[in-house]
Amino acid sequence: MREDSLSPASITNNLETRFIGQRVIYHPRLASTMEVAKREARLGAAEGTVVIAGEQTGGRGRMRRVWLSPEGSLALSIIFYPSLVYLPSLIMLASLAVVRSIEAVTDLRSQVKWPNDVLVNGKKVCGILIESDVRREKVAYAIMGIGANVNLRISDFPDISSSATSLSDELAKDISLLSLTRCLLIEVERLYLALQAGRSIYEEWRDSLVTLGRKVRVNSGNITYKGVAESVARDGSLLLRHSDGSLTKVIAGDVTLHD
Ligand code: BTN
Repeated sequence: MREDSLSPASITNNLETRFIGQRVIYHPRLASTMEVAKREARLGAAEGTVVIAGEQTGGRGRMRRVWLSPEGSLALSIIFYPSLVYLPSLIMLASLAVVRSIEAVTDLRSQVKWPNDVLVNGKKVCGILIESDVRREKVAYAIMGIGANVNLRISDFPDISSSATSLSDELAKDISLLSLTRCLLIEVERLYLALQAGRSIYEEWRDSLVTLGRKVRVNSGNITYKGVAESVARDGSLLLRHSDGSLTKVIAGDVTLHD
């Protein structure tokens, strides 16, 4: 076993959190951590339970896309039982926790491309997927899935090599997956507790966005919008200014940056 290899004990040992990551389910290889986390949530697993994989064979991305998670990448899902008001903030929370932990562990500065892609030097290094079950205004559970390209040679993956990067490619050396995982869990909890204490994380998330002020194309469902990304609302939606002066509020979508 490599010194920094992931195991439940190596992750939880003296982890300075109250509940996030206090229970870890580790699979060396599985289809998707989202599925296992959902099953656990339906069985009533404790809030903060983490499902983590060494490698995923059926990783899922946003918009029903495939997410590549070979060995060397980070793939985890965290179980939450938030009240409905905090649900939109989970997207902001996850991307901010990733930005903070990448900086803490590697010194690399990263930015968020709305709504929640994390970029280093303009290329995607991490994706986030939030899936929830909401019934009668009550959140049965929410699963936060985080996938990051950590120790990967992106040129080995031609499908994504023009738009993605990895932390090891940026630094020209491997980094500790274990340190990054532990730091991420601590940051997720810090931000979640801040939210519950009534503090806003919106401003820090807004300030970390690379999207604002840029000309963008946004695919949202079957509609494509073009305009300038003017700002983001407190609920996380994007406010897009069109050339005729009108404004569209986009709740979910995929952004391509221009210029
Ligand atoms: C995206 O950018 O499209 C989101 C990617 C989310 C990937 C993570 S990896 C851990 C978790 N398990 C999955 O199958 N997907 C998420």
